[in-house]
Amino acid sequence: MLITIPDVLNSEQVAEARKLLDAAEWVDGRVTAGHQSARAKDNLQVPEGHPIARQVGATILQALGKNLLFLSAALPLHVFPPLFNRYSGGQSFGTHVDNSIRQIPGTPHRIRTDLSATLFFAAPDEYDGGELVMEDTYGVKSVKLPPGHLVLYPSTSLHRVNPVTRGARLCAFFWVQSMVRDDGKRSLLFDLDQGIQRLGRDLPEQPAAAQTAVQLTGVYHNLLRQWAEV
Ligand code: NI
Repeated sequence: MLITIPDVLNSEQVAEARKLLDAAEWVDGRVTAGHQSARAKDNLQVPEGHPIARQVGATILQALGKNLLFLSAALPLHVFPPLFNRYSGGQSFGTHVDNSIRQIPGTPHRIRTDLSATLFFAAPDEYDGGELVMEDTYGVKSVKLPPGHLVLYPSTSLHRVNPVTRGARLCAFFWVQSMVRDDGKRSLLFDLDQGIQRLGRDLPEQPAAAQTAVQLTGVYHNLLRQWAEV
């Protein structure tokens, strides 16, 4: 399942993050690439653990912790501290698949990458190219989002970033280990949760709808109990 989560950060948060990131140190993005993807990768990154990466990363994680759409879609168990990249002057990232396991820097902890996330900071009209292109079983999808918006997609997808031929593309990227490892099961839970919420919204005063919502909420939690690893 590929899902867009709008307005993870508001315009003030985006502006503040861009100011901080403009002043950060930028290094060759191959530092965090696996063996295979290092050959395909051509961009700049803020070093892992850099104070500015931590600061802007904390803002993103705090916002995600309150974002109901993200929580429902990702069912996060662990979220990797966000990293930041920048593409300009024709830079790109060729087709690759993300590493399955990631060590969280400075800790003994590892996470399994079930979901990959990209949060956009630059407006689409500030740069040409730079689309995130995913190939999955349903075909090819191309994503280029407004500032503050995030795309979440299965880390099993082959994906690439098209060359940025004008301006600069500035993004945060990170991974999520979900309580529900399987994308199909996670998608079912998401659909069920969205349906239950719609029932409450569309039929707020109807006792029969409330009863149905309770029953479906029970199904949701009993499925989650069977499928979740915590
Ligand atoms: Ni990737």
